[in-house]
Amino acid sequence: MAKKYYIKTFGCQMNVYDSSRIADMLKNEGYIETQKQADADIVLFNTCHIREKAAEKLFSDLGRAKLIADERAENGLDTVIGVAGCVVQAEDEQIIKRAPYVDFAVGPLMYYRIPEILRKVVSDKKHKGIVDTDFPAINKFDFLPENKAQGACSYLAVQEGCNNFCTYCVVPYTRGAECSRTVKEVVEEAKRLIATGTLEINLLGQNVNSYHGEDENGKERNLAYLLHKIAELDGLKRLRYTTSYPADMSDDLIACHKDIDILMPYLHLPVQSGSDKILKAMNRRHTSADYLKIVEKLYAANPKLKMSSDFIVGFPGETDEDFAKTLEVVNKVKYIQAFSFKYSRRPGTPAAVMENQVEEKVKKERLDVLQTLLFDYQTKFNEACVGQTMPVLFEQKGRHKGQLIGRTPYMQNLHIETKGDNMNKIIDVVVTAATTNSLSGKEI
Ligand code: 5AD
Ligand code: SF4
Repeated sequence: MAKKYYIKTFGCQMNVYDSSRIADMLKNEGYIETQKQADADIVLFNTCHIREKAAEKLFSDLGRAKLIADERAENGLDTVIGVAGCVVQAEDEQIIKRAPYVDFAVGPLMYYRIPEILRKVVSDKKHKGIVDTDFPAINKFDFLPENKAQGACSYLAVQEGCNNFCTYCVVPYTRGAECSRTVKEVVEEAKRLIATGTLEINLLGQNVNSYHGEDENGKERNLAYLLHKIAELDGLKRLRYTTSYPADMSDDLIACHKDIDILMPYLHLPVQSGSDKILKAMNRRHTSADYLKIVEKLYAANPKLKMSSDFIVGFPGETDEDFAKTLEVVNKVKYIQAFSFKYSRRPGTPAAVMENQVEEKVKKERLDVLQTLLFDYQTKFNEACVGQTMPVLFEQKGRHKGQLIGRTPYMQNLHIETKGDNMNKIIDVVVTAATTNSLSGKEI
């Protein structure tokens, strides 16, 4: 019987992408996927370290995995337990010290070694836990198998790592310095994804708009160039990119929102805070006025464009006045979706040792106020969609028979009851109802 793998993924879309690439490698090794951990011969946790309690959550998951592995052992079944992702980069050897039954732990830049490590682990039952947290000079993407579309929407990593060093953020330490894939590599991967059924590609990077990959003549090209190249590919219906950094929104990238018709009218552009004092303490290379100017240019390039953002409340030194400036930005941009977080002290980052930390209670109050406002804009936008016709890409089955869930151009979830075979298709739908988090619709 084929061996099975189970992967649990935490965190950002980059981790989701990495997990799918790990799955490709495991499939090449002859494993098949299972959703049931107890059936899995290899259990892998792909971890995130961006906010608190990540390591604690991991160790409790590992404890549970050990219990399941012990039960399997009673039935004569071996289980390999592995960890990947940013917690490995941060905790390093500690993972094996605290959970000695872990067979291997690999950082985000080293997971291409999993097949080799797995073979070693399986053949030598007395092995010690293998830890690999190198920042290699090589390009991990060169070592990954060619990937295929898993559905109609695919992520495509074009850039990894970050040189921005926002003072709250672990990413520059866990994912390393910025590194862009070549234009050819990205275009080839896009072509393969399209040939195997992808209609929508989302170009992915921690700082995707600082993309600077080489073309075939060794010339550095930016994200605007790459978007144009990919938009030319036959068969692609939708294009997106995420996540962008405001200071890297060049004018030619903004112009793509006017010139590329398949570029969806929705952009995730995190502002984090509306206060210039806090933005400076965060080491962000933009003021709130710079940010608003960029949004104005984007809205001018495509009047249908809508925005989303990330926010942090309660960054060290944030006063009520600073927080009020964040609300002002929300009221100006009118985001249709957003992610908002209480500032979380990350060991090893400059903000963790700043003296003027904000009390937990104040953080919570500010988060409540901010989320109420954000949800209000989100709900209003969703309600304004009722009665409109929208092209929806259906990519998921719903809970009930005949129900499908798809995405509108604005990344809203939309449910329909369908009699036809509309999976993995873009269908015009009339929106019939809206809540804060989703829409319902009817085929026309
Ligand atoms: N505390 C709270 N939120 C954080 N983020 C990153 N680091 C922290 C932190 N230490 C948020 C930022 C970022 C998103 C991915 O996570 O808003 O844009
Ligand atoms: Fe972290 Fe800032 Fe880089 Fe985003 S831009 S990954 S928040 S350091």
